[in-house]
Amino acid sequence: MSGNQNLNRAKKDQNDEFYTAYDDIELEMKHYKSHFQDRVVFLNCDDPKESKFWEYFSIKFRSLGLKKLIATHYDRERPTYKLELFGYGEEPVRTSLTQNGDFRSPECVEILKEADVVVTNPPFSLAREYVAQLVEHDKKFVIVGGFNWITYKEIFKLIKDNRLWLGVSPRNMRFMQPDGTEKQVNACWFTNLEHKRRKEELKWTREYAGNEDHYPRYDNYDAIEVRCVSDIPIDYTGVMGVPITFLENYNPDRFEIVGCNRGRDQDPGGVYGRSSYVHGKETFKRIFIRRKV
Ligand SMILES: C[S@@+](CC[C@H](N)C(=O)[O-])C[C@H]1O[C@@H](n2cnc3c(N)ncnc32)[C@H](O)[C@@H]1O
Repeated sequence: MSGNQNLNRAKKDQNDEFYTAYDDIELEMKHYKSHFQDRVVFLNCDDPKESKFWEYFSIKFRSLGLKKLIATHYDRERPTYKLELFGYGEEPVRTSLTQNGDFRSPECVEILKEADVVVTNPPFSLAREYVAQLVEHDKKFVIVGGFNWITYKEIFKLIKDNRLWLGVSPRNMRFMQPDGTEKQVNACWFTNLEHKRRKEELKWTREYAGNEDHYPRYDNYDAIEVRCVSDIPIDYTGVMGVPITFLENYNPDRFEIVGCNRGRDQDPGGVYGRSSYVHGKETFKRIFIRRKV
């Protein structure tokens, strides 16, 4: 690697260092209890000495009915180890790895194959690769990610195809940093485990009733712009552009996702390009949806 590449990598590594709080893990995991029964849970971006994910699953091993808990520790420079827990209150078994615990390393991929559910907060700088690997190996997962990952075309495609959705807890989370300070990140949970929030019926009441002042049409796409999620009209059956926060309330029984305005690949019909305009003004980060009838 050149000096510059090294510097960029080091900066990315530094940006990836923020740690999930126990309370946030507990708040989210309580919605998936039935999914952990008799399962092998793998924390593949977690130093078990520090990770609150390790702490949480060790403490809850029996109440969740886990079969096994595994964590691999990553070190950029040197070989590391994995830790395995086989029962509540037992001594974890430490095994050296010959590689550095990179989630992509063949050793870690072998462990991934053995796992049923992957849970972690992965390096944000490797978001696309990280999620792609989980999908390639057809794994169940609950992971922390940046809210803006929604608009990454690879991840949006999974959302659109109902292969990945948001978790339950509100976004904007606080994390500890290596220097002991806290950092707020517009982060949320992503999962492919069912939870009851996805089935909630929302009590929206606004009507479209042809009101093009409140619901203007896009200049370059046959849809209406809905500026605020709570304004989604109950009587409009065509395509609507809504802010990406819609996904926090997305019930797949009620709505179909048809596209996103972040790039041509995200539009199934190739109808619109990178941007969508209302009266010549660009709108950003819109998801296009249609009510299911
Ligand atoms: C956002 S931090 C979260 C740490 C921990 N999972 C938690 O939630 O407290 C992401 C972690 O991934 C680790 N990491 C970076 N690159 C990695 C890689 N290629 N494979 C595995 N872990 C990696 C970093 O050391 C970093 O601690």
